[in-house]
Amino acid sequence: MGHSLSPLIQNTALAALEVPIVYLAAPLEPSGVEAAVHGLVALQALGTNVTVPYKEVAFALCHRVTPRARAMRACNVLSFAQGEIVGDNTDGVGWWRGLQPILDGARPHRALVLGAGGAARAVVHTLIAQEIPEIVVFNRTPERAEQLVRELPPGRVVAEALERWLRFLEPGCLVVQTTSAGWNGTASSWPLPSSWPEGALLSELLYGRETVLAATVRALGGRVQDGLPMLVYQASESLRIWLGQALSPSLEARLLTLARDHLEARLSAPG
Ligand code: ATR
Repeated sequence: MGHSLSPLIQNTALAALEVPIVYLAAPLEPSGVEAAVHGLVALQALGTNVTVPYKEVAFALCHRVTPRARAMRACNVLSFAQGEIVGDNTDGVGWWRGLQPILDGARPHRALVLGAGGAARAVVHTLIAQEIPEIVVFNRTPERAEQLVRELPPGRVVAEALERWLRFLEPGCLVVQTTSAGWNGTASSWPLPSSWPEGALLSELLYGRETVLAATVRALGGRVQDGLPMLVYQASESLRIWLGQALSPSLEARLLTLARDHLEARLSAPG
């Protein structure tokens, strides 16, 4: 957990809001998730964030979940009140909010989603909620993309073979890379673009190192956004749930700058 930026983001926000609460990160083994959550309830903690790969387990532990968490079948935020565990999911809304400055008022007509895991599910549900007209999911294992599409309202989302994704690129489209493939030079299973359409945007949910795809798009003059804004805005949305108070845009901007500076300092540190 030493690498997590969440304590820095959350504790900076809590201090700015002058709320006497601390946010701690703790490593967990899969067998310890249930005991840890019940321990936090017993300690009368306000709530907790849950990260990959425990979001589905957290969902199963909840007494109640919000409609969006139910749709995503995963919780990254738990709140504890009167011994009850209430689950929510701020990943999708955090991702979408983080995208707005770079979209700058534009609404993509078409979104191409690479990957069909839990992160892709959160993105697809958000794209549906945002009424993006055309949504296409591409996955290395086609059955998994088809399975995801079957969970969704009929006709809203199409599954396609991963190797065909470049054919769906169009000006102004939004490409969302939801997998961890292609990170730090590792091989991904999709073809790379040799040209990038006008106004198209690549959003990757990863942050910390540039992927081969991101580097390729950037070299072609395309716009790329990493997953750091998503991390900050999902944290802000988590605080809103726990405190019942929204963070100001200026505080959110400060948190994003702080997170970016820390990430860059860490990456440039020797070793
Ligand atoms: P998460 O919940 O974080 O999304 P996941 O459920 O394990 O993680 O999903 C990982 C996604 O990354 C999947 O879409 C996976 O494709 P498969 O379903 O075919 O496994 C995708 N993925 C992982 N490594 C990949 C690679 N080298 N090339 C392409 N896709 C990859």
